[in-house]
Amino acid sequence: MGTNVNPHKVVRTHSNAEGRFYLADCRDLFRTLPEASVDVMVTSPPYNMGIRYNTYEDTLDQDEYLRWTSEWVAGAARVLKPDGSLFLNVGTRPSDPWTALDVAQAARPHLRLQNIIHWVKSVAIDQASTSVASGITRDLAVGHYKPINSERYLNDCHEFIFHFTHHATTRLDRLAVGVPYQDQSNISRWGAGASGIRCRGNTWFIPYETIQRRDKDRPHPATFPAKLPEQCIRLHGVSKVETVMDPFTGLGSTAVACARLGVNFVGSDIDEFYLNEAAERMEAAATPLSLPGRGVARMAKAVRTTPATAASAPRTARRA
Ligand SMILES: C[S@@+](CC[C@H](N)C(=O)[O-])C[C@H]1O[C@@H](n2cnc3c(N)ncnc32)[C@H](O)[C@@H]1O
Repeated sequence: MGTNVNPHKVVRTHSNAEGRFYLADCRDLFRTLPEASVDVMVTSPPYNMGIRYNTYEDTLDQDEYLRWTSEWVAGAARVLKPDGSLFLNVGTRPSDPWTALDVAQAARPHLRLQNIIHWVKSVAIDQASTSVASGITRDLAVGHYKPINSERYLNDCHEFIFHFTHHATTRLDRLAVGVPYQDQSNISRWGAGASGIRCRGNTWFIPYETIQRRDKDRPHPATFPAKLPEQCIRLHGVSKVETVMDPFTGLGSTAVACARLGVNFVGSDIDEFYLNEAAERMEAAATPLSLPGRGVARMAKAVRTTPATAASAPRTARRA
């Protein structure tokens, strides 16, 4: 891809993926990238909620914020390939639940909404509502969220991932992020095929990675876990991906996912500190020894061949 802007950093990873990091406003970068040159974007813009970034002022007038959103999505649509995917992560404030939906509406003139995925950060599961096959033996509450003290609002345990495409016809590799059938009888009942894996659906439980020291381990106020972009890229289909972009790179969670998957990354941020961190993180990211997709296939095999161990298989995978 030829651009007129020079990258601030270029890294090459163990997995032979190239990362190009631009210290730039993404709207400028979009103008310099060739049309239809990006397969997948996974990104999370500022939410206009007064979050304290190093450089960016997250306090625009709401109309101005939505005009800005429409402007950058128009740029994104120009560089997205005809069958490309834009996974747009947006959260809300309990006191302002419309914001994420307003952002999706601002993108509507430029792209079609093909799927809505719910990124679940924390979930409570009552043992009584589960089947024996699940292996769950007590009430569970897993994941993290920021508790709020309120008589009106619930704790906010999820964010949206809007999956935008040009025509809402982009073919996906659903089983690449699939889960094994827990009940063997469902495999024949639903004609699920030989794989024993079913579509994960649109609720993705992805907790934040545990960190020891926030200032050192996650020096940014609003990141998503690298597993989130990794699942998005897999869902689009790794084998057909040449270039992934995150116009709002932050600490580079999408870049890290690209390093793990061995695909090229292009990103921009207006903050030099974040961008340098992102480049370092991508360079340091290790290729996973066992890709989650392959792990799931192994689990499915275990479920099919040894029913007695089926219940524990998904739990093991979650720990891994
Ligand atoms: C929500 S954060 C993204 C975090 C990222 N997903 C991660 O996991 O680390 C938004 C980022 O956008 C950057 N930003 C704000 N305005 C920008 C613009 N016009 N162009 C590029 N980056 C921008 C901010 O500096 C901030 O790092």
